[in-house]
Amino acid sequence: MRTFYATVAITLLAGSTLLNAATYKGQKIYIDSCKECHGGGQQLAGSKKQRVWEKLMDNKGEKLADIHLNSKKAQPSWDYFKDRSFTKGAKHLEDFLVEYASDSGNVPACN
Ligand code: HEC
Repeated sequence: MRTFYATVAITLLAGSTLLNAATYKGQKIYIDSCKECHGGGQQLAGSKKQRVWEKLMDNKGEKLADIHLNSKKAQPSWDYFKDRSFTKGAKHLEDFLVEYASDSGNVPACN
């Protein structure tokens, strides 16, 4: 599994321009808004299955926001999760997370 993540990371670095636009936007949101607390995006995305991400991101990310708003440790993120910019970008973020979910079978290819 470790090699898998390394491969994904390296391939992604090399092939990030090939990502489709929605996934790319979602990744950018991730880097801007989640990375400082959760680290690498593919790693977090790969920690859950597609169905789980779809549920968390249902209704413009309602559940994901709830998890953070209910956690004191996540307090620095509260402003963001309450803001419209989160709900606006939620669909892109979902695309990105689902694209790299553990059962997506999606290792970005160099084609
Ligand atoms: C300020 C730091 C911070 C930011 C920013 C942040 N998170 Fe979190 N996140 C946390 C903390 C802390 C928890 C743990 C909450 C708990 O369980 O008490 C958490 C929990 C989660 C969980 C649930 C973990 C699990 O295993 O079920 C997911 C998924 C998640 N975050 C995704 C995201 C995404 C996606 C973003 C960006 C939109 C984001 N987080 C932004 C701190 C942050």
